[in-house]
Order: sequence, then structure tokens, then C-alpha cells
Amino acid sequence: MATRRLGIIMHGVTGRMGLNQHLIRSILAIRKEGGVALANGERVIPDPILVGRNAEKVKALAREHGIERATSDLDTALKNPEDSVFFDAATTLMRADLLKRAIDAGKHVYAEKPIANTLDKALEVAKLARKRGVKNGVVQDKLFLPGLRKIRMLRDAGFFGRMFAVRGEFGYWVFEGDWGQPAQRPSWNYKKAEGGGIILDMLCHWRYVLDNLFGKVKAVSCLGATHIPSRVDENGKSYIADVDDAAYASFQLEGGVIAHINSSWCVRVRRDDLVTFQVDGTHGSAVAGLTRCFTQAREKMPRPIWNPDEPQTMNFFSQWDEVPDDTVYDNGFKIQWEGFIRHVCEDAPWSHDLVEAAKGVQLAQLGMKSWAERRWIDVPDLTL
Ligand SMILES: NC(=O)c1ccc[n+]([C@@H]2O[C@H](COP(=O)([O-])OP(=O)(O)OC[C@H]3O[C@@H](n4cnc5c(N)ncnc54)[C@H](O)[C@@H]3O)[C@@H](O)[C@H]2O)c1
Repeated sequence: MATRRLGIIMHGVTGRMGLNQHLIRSILAIRKEGGVALANGERVIPDPILVGRNAEKVKALAREHGIERATSDLDTALKNPEDSVFFDAATTLMRADLLKRAIDAGKHVYAEKPIANTLDKALEVAKLARKRGVKNGVVQDKLFLPGLRKIRMLRDAGFFGRMFAVRGEFGYWVFEGDWGQPAQRPSWNYKKAEGGGIILDMLCHWRYVLDNLFGKVKAVSCLGATHIPSRVDENGKSYIADVDDAAYASFQLEGGVIAHINSSWCVRVRRDDLVTFQVDGTHGSAVAGLTRCFTQAREKMPRPIWNPDEPQTMNFFSQWDEVPDDTVYDNGFKIQWEGFIRHVCEDAPWSHDLVEAAKGVQLAQLGMKSWAERRWIDVPDLTL
């Protein structure tokens, strides 16, 4: 079988997302499987070069994973015509400039979200990519979660009737770091100057989830909060957490669906999963977590009686049916990488481009504005 190589410059792969989801679960997994199959039967083998500030660290990482190439010299890496793709999963604030450098060097670009911390910067990158005619993409991993794929299937099958409400609960407790447990997220997440804040982090996810599954987002009302104002960092040093660590946001969607999503790093979990979405429609409801999804059709609805004098006799959780796993659900980041590689190598259709990325940044920015101004904000159409 014919194979071809695709050189990929991977930046930020010593971080949580870069290492686990992008390098190990995606690129290395694709290499192990013998590459990505194209329509003409050829297979594309990704050939990464790892790039990071600390040459020793990236070289050690490369050795550990059987990768031949690693460097701390991004400029030289960008000059190599044999590597046509640049990928970034480093911290948010560096991303827009890195992407612009890569696009100027003629690379196709793929990146983690958000692609910038302001809409202006995000649009600048998207415009440059269009002007230079390079392929471009952003990670929209939640669309590939088995739980949300099941919701999409239910929607397409007409299960919900007319959908009218979506309730999302995202979050878990992120340890403060000053008692017993170390924090399980990087400290930059809690510092404004370093691109932190849960609104910027999560509203860009909710934009593509809502747009793609339930209706285009037309308006947002968002209340942020800093529930834990001081935390302890990776080095045991205490710092002021000066950004939102919880966001309580409502959205009005095209078609009339009302969505409300709570995102929080200060919540203890008593629900099916770390993120859950309940979708209500006239004919049925569904609740999806990361992987599992439960439904209740209207014919199966119980008739609960409100009676505060008696303990509840119904077990509401037992009244739902589970959507079966009728397919193999591969890692979502890997599925998206395969799609991007096909897009680069055979111009396969691709909808997760930098304009979509900018829409995510737009919603985050308008969410912050809504919080600051204590009002609903319309979300205008975005064009380049
Ligand atoms: N898609 C998702 O679900 C998801 C989840 C978490 C994070 N993210 C995004 O991924 C990105 C990384 O987040 P993370 O949680 O992996 O962070 P992290 O702190 O674990 O990793 C950050 C990476 O950036 C590198 N880095 C930091 N400062 C640098 C500098 N000055 N020069 C060069 N490299 C530098 C670090 O070495 C590391 O490789 C963020 O943009 C975040 O929004 C996406």
C-alpha cells in the first residue's frame, strides 16, 4: 500500500493537552495504526517534530515516545519546507502570534482553542489564513464525545419533537493547592495576565456545541464569579486568582431553544458525569455525559406527585433508558486530527476552521461584556 509522509511541527506538547490528547492519543496512535487512509487508498503517516522552549525537555519527550525530531528553534522548524503543518497546544496568550508566524511561513495551521483572547486578534489570524490560502483548523473536541454524538443521533432521528431547552452542567472541584491536595489544573488558568478565566476557556466550547447541535447562538447573558480568590501554584507559592472560576450563562438560540450552561471549577459533582447536557423537547428528553446518554420518551414519563410530607418514593434515575453503544467511539481528538489530515492531503470537507474558532472567542468576549454590563447581549453574525 502506498504511503506518504506529512511533516507536522507540534508546539506545546509538554503540556496537559498537547501531550496526552494530541501527541499520545492522536498522532502516535495514528502512526501505530499505519496512518490515515485517503480516498485513493494511500495512507498518510504523520511525522512530527516536537518544539518547545526547553530543548532538553522536548528531546527527552521525543526519545521517550520514539520520535526522531525535537528542537527549541521554532524559526528554523518553520523554515523547513518538508514540514507543511504547524500545530499549537501551548498557552492561550501566545497562540495568535504563533499562528500568524506559521501562516506567514506558508504552513497549514491547526490549534487548540481559544485561538486568541480577543475577537480582533482571532479575526486577524483567520483573515491571514484566508489571504495566504492555507488550510486551517481549531480543536472542537466536544462534538466528538460519544455522549454528544448520541444526542446528535437522537436529534436527527426526530426523537425530541420540538427541542426547546438545553441545560448544561460542566465542572468539578479544582483544588486550591493550600490544603491536602495539589491543584489539578495549571495556575495560569486562574490569572488574567496569563490568559486564564473559565469564560474564555469554556464559552468557546459552548459556542460550537450549541451552534452545531441545537441552533445558532443569537444572544448571551453571563454572570461570572471568582469564588476562590487565592490559590497555590505548581511551586507551592500562593497567588491571587483574579479571574472568573465559575460562569452562569444563558443563551438564546436560532429556532427558539433556550440554553443555560453552568461552568465551574468550584463545584462538587453529584450528577452522571463531569459535564452533562439535558435536552428537553415536546416528545422526549435526553441527558448525555461524556460517554453515556439516557432518554425518556413522553410515553414513558412518570406522574410524580408533589408531597413534602412524605419522602420521595420514585427513583427518577431509574426511569430513563440508556442509548446503546452501537458503534466504536474512538478518541475525539484523534478523529478530528484524521479529518484535518484528510483536509490537508486530499482537500476533504472540513468545517472546524479559524472562522469557527473566532466565533468561540466572540462568544467568550460577549459573555464577559454581558457580565461587566449586567445585561443580555446579541451575538452578531461573523464574517471576514
Ligand atoms: N480542547 C480542550 O478540551 C482543552 C482542554 C484544556 C486546555 N485546552 C487548551 O489547551 C491549551 C493548553 O492548556 P493546558 O491545560 O494543556 O496547559 P499546560 O499549562 O499544561 O500546557 C501549556 C504548554 O505551553 C507551554 N508554554 C507555556 N508558556 C510557554 C512559553 N512562554 N513558551 C513556549 N511554550 C510555553 C508549556 O511548556 C506547555 O507545553 C490552552 O490554550 C487551553 O485553552 C483545551
